[in-house]
Amino acid sequence: MSRTSPVPGRQEAAGGTFISFEGIDGAGKTTHIDALAAGLRASGAEVVLTREPGGTPLAESLRELVLHQPMDALTEALAVFAARRDHVQRVIRPALQRGQTVICDRFADASFAYQGGGNGCPWAVLQQLEAWVLEGLQPDLTLLFDLPAEEAARRRAAARHPDRFESQDTDFFERVRSAYLRRVAEDPSRFALIDAQQTPADVWQQVQNACRQRWPGLLSPQP
Ligand code: TYD
Repeated sequence: MSRTSPVPGRQEAAGGTFISFEGIDGAGKTTHIDALAAGLRASGAEVVLTREPGGTPLAESLRELVLHQPMDALTEALAVFAARRDHVQRVIRPALQRGQTVICDRFADASFAYQGGGNGCPWAVLQQLEAWVLEGLQPDLTLLFDLPAEEAARRRAAARHPDRFESQDTDFFERVRSAYLRRVAEDPSRFALIDAQQTPADVWQQVQNACRQRWPGLLSPQP
């Protein structure tokens, strides 16, 4: 039996639950995304695991361009929101309407953080794009992996093929981090701030706590 929305969330009308993960490159969210998906599946949820930019063939093509072709901040913002539009229409909304749990590795907050904070695209332009593209859709819960840019840079140092964003300097990532925190200040109830400087085990505990706080009983195995 599949689990529908564990508690009334913003996606209640649609039936499903929408969780996004955010953070600067090197924050270490990937293993925890996989662990959360596995934990939710074990507790009976039907999980759709996806990512941005990407998640559809068209959006993955746009991802390739955004990550590897130089472009100005507005072009970049239009490209990531175009990718997001296709992803939301074809994957995210249909899954939520089926009552599934969508876990998305990055979503609109990343555009505010990277195109806005990092590259200087005006906040108001991003807000306009968000309103057009999302038509009110927001994650029920966003887990923001927060850590200083210096620490994230040390963790990224081992990465073999940095993309256009990963090769930016520490100042860029401090601006990205600040923009993420501005998004938290603008809508605090949607976010759980995860201290990504802790050990992986402690971080995983924080992730579980944030989910259980919102949806008690979530992540418990089905009898
Ligand atoms: P990510 O999938 O986290 O990278 P990786 O595959 O290396 O783990 O994210 C890809 C990059 O895209 C990341 O540097 C952030 C950037 N990005 C934006 O600039 N704007 C956006 O709207 C999104 C979703 C991501």
